[in-house]
Amino acid sequence: MEQLTSKIMGTGSALPERVLKNIEIEKLVDTSDAWIQERTGIVERRIAKEKESTAELAAIAGKKALEDAKIPAENLDFILLATFTPSSFMPNDACLVQTALGASKAVCFDINAACSGFLFALQMAHAYICSGMARYILVIGAENISKVIDWNDRGTCILFGDGAGAVVLGVSDSCSHGILDFESGSDGSHGKVLSLDGYSESSHTKFLRMDGQEVFKFAVRKVPEMILALTKRNHLLLEEIDYYLLHQANKRILSSVAKRLSLSLDKFPMNLNYYGNTSAASIPILLDECHRSGIFLEGQKLILSGFGGGLTWGSCLLSW
Ligand code: ACO
Repeated sequence: MEQLTSKIMGTGSALPERVLKNIEIEKLVDTSDAWIQERTGIVERRIAKEKESTAELAAIAGKKALEDAKIPAENLDFILLATFTPSSFMPNDACLVQTALGASKAVCFDINAACSGFLFALQMAHAYICSGMARYILVIGAENISKVIDWNDRGTCILFGDGAGAVVLGVSDSCSHGILDFESGSDGSHGKVLSLDGYSESSHTKFLRMDGQEVFKFAVRKVPEMILALTKRNHLLLEEIDYYLLHQANKRILSSVAKRLSLSLDKFPMNLNYYGNTSAASIPILLDECHRSGIFLEGQKLILSGFGGGLTWGSCLLSW
């Protein structure tokens, strides 16, 4: 019997309307538009309204992905929602999305692995499909990071934004077309470099805290390692990968990864200049924009790579 694999059948995304430009942040902390652009590549980001929730953005992105896939919500077996900024812990945001979409048959839960969350959710959805336990799964990455930002901390408030991205994963008709492999891991011993203690019983610091330089060093080491492991295991040359869709944290991280792998930065699509770092949402938003712009051709090879708090990291090799 031929082994089952999964494939992305449709994509969607949702971004808040409110645009926050670097020059507006100049009024909040001691920084400048020029510094932010030079050190991060970010020009502006989207900020959700006070009452615009993670689950609402996730539901809009999910609906668009279902429309793109031409799959009715009732056909969904699971909704997996990656976020570290849920609207509520109970009910979970995936259940809120279920109600909004009318996906009555779906099993729904959230996954928290910060900026690797979407990749971990995708890996889990792939495993469900390959095991025959599911046919259609909505995988969402959604964040409302502006709500946990300390707007007095110039080391973090310049970086993040809000948004949601989603894919519908379904059974592929061929094992060489669709999701081919994953490489992922975690290292809890370095958890302190990116933290949000606000919701824990022991602490009431409700802001995201980060050691930017440590995260930077971790990312430029770990992402090339994952990419090399995936390509080697699948007997592919780095040049045979058409696009590398990396978590949109910082343009300098993407440039360093491209340089370490001796690849042109043209293979690394980017939208962080408009949206900043939207954590679990960044890869599915980018995937949706690339797909809708028509740059992906059938059979092209893509690698998606996420990295972040935990520490966590995850990459996926797929044939479009
Ligand atoms: N504006 C102006 N100056 C600043 C700012 C700012 N916003 N932030 C820091 N500086 C200053 C520092 O105080 C320092 O000044 P000093 O030399 O007088 O001490 C100087 O700029 C250089 O500081 P660095 O920390 O070395 O700046 P760096 O070039 O590393 O850039 C940044 C900082 C942008 C945070 C970078 O380290 C980074 O992007 N790291 C990765 C962060 C990341 O990707 N995090 C998300 C992970 S995803 C997740 O899971 C949530």
